[in-house]
Amino acid sequence: MINQHYLGMLSNKSVIRELSEYATARGKEIGYENVFDYSLGNPSVPAPDSFREACVRYLQEEDPVRLHGYAPTTGLPSVKEKVAASLNRRFGMQYGPHHIFPTAGAAGSLAHALRAVTQPGDEVIVFAPFFPEYYPYINETGARIKIVEPETEHFQINFEDLEEKLTPSVAAVLINSPNNPSGAIYTEETLTRLAEVLKRKSREFGHNVFLISDEPYREIVFDGKQTPYTARYYDHTLTCYSFSKSLSVPGERIGYVAVNPACEEADNIVAMCGQISRGIGHNCPSSLITLAMGDTVDDTSDLSVYETNMNLLYDALTDLGFTVTRPGGTFYIMPKALEEDAVAFCKKALKYDLILVPTDSFHAPGFFRMAYCIDTEKVERSIPALRRFVEETYGIRR
Ligand SMILES: Cc1ncc(COP(=O)(O)O)c(C=O)c1O
Repeated sequence: MINQHYLGMLSNKSVIRELSEYATARGKEIGYENVFDYSLGNPSVPAPDSFREACVRYLQEEDPVRLHGYAPTTGLPSVKEKVAASLNRRFGMQYGPHHIFPTAGAAGSLAHALRAVTQPGDEVIVFAPFFPEYYPYINETGARIKIVEPETEHFQINFEDLEEKLTPSVAAVLINSPNNPSGAIYTEETLTRLAEVLKRKSREFGHNVFLISDEPYREIVFDGKQTPYTARYYDHTLTCYSFSKSLSVPGERIGYVAVNPACEEADNIVAMCGQISRGIGHNCPSSLITLAMGDTVDDTSDLSVYETNMNLLYDALTDLGFTVTRPGGTFYIMPKALEEDAVAFCKKALKYDLILVPTDSFHAPGFFRMAYCIDTEKVERSIPALRRFVEETYGIRR
């Protein structure tokens, strides 16, 4: 018999994917340029030349048998060295190459980190609003997701709810800053307070609660700011990084786990990740892509378009009377819908070819997400459509 669990998952399709498929189909009818598709978080800018040049150089100059051969179980040492040096330089850390495990993007990174610090039946805390893929990422490890309710004013942490939910059965806490979908960045105060709670509870429980920090948007920050580096605040931190958004290479599947040297069992976790790979069938990302990443670890695409788009949308949305927290980074914004039922709100927007995503599946009903990783020219053209939508549907005139 085929596996009924995975068969059952087929009927649980992602709302984001469904809306994106709708946008593509609608594009065939009226021209995709006329669909204001804010559904998918796919980077809209090319990878930097340095990344493509590195790929070409390796293909042309490296011995093909070596280049295309198996990498060691825990990744290419020369690249692990470069990643560690970059993190140490940028964030004042003390990583060695043995603390770095290259993975297939953030998804691969989280798959390893979660398995390394939980047992089946343990609980993993996440903070709403959160990326809906956290459900399968966590639940498919055998651990169980436990949700802390959102703090919807600044999208920091609802500490009251965290104190209540952080019980001895919690093995790890998973955070995502800058955040998909709110665009919020956890402040130094938030991270300091979180670390205090984790330290206190760890002492009380007699076991360390691990912190897993999912950081694929770390480099997409606005107003010239920097994302505070989570692992600096709490020893038992596993940082899960991805180059999908910073280098605009989501299809190349490249990222890493970085284990804080001060973390419990820090010297074993990367080796354990190598063993976890055997069970889940992920054995190191492509050598070519890993090598190119090592040479461009401090580079990014030109990410400035996201800030331009954010400012345009934030100004337009506030002008139209939406309640919205200004994102500190990412390429998402999360306004409050103009009626309680955000699903109904987003359905009504379709009449204006505005593809907005209700955040019910992010555990934040009443809001919607706009992924503004699209051309600025299209953002500009979408604003009159937004205006007509709220005027004609909700009688709002500004
Ligand atoms: C918060 C968050 N975590 C993880 C991922 C997965 O990223 P990757 O493409 O690197 O696997 C995404 C992708 O959009 C994301 O938004």
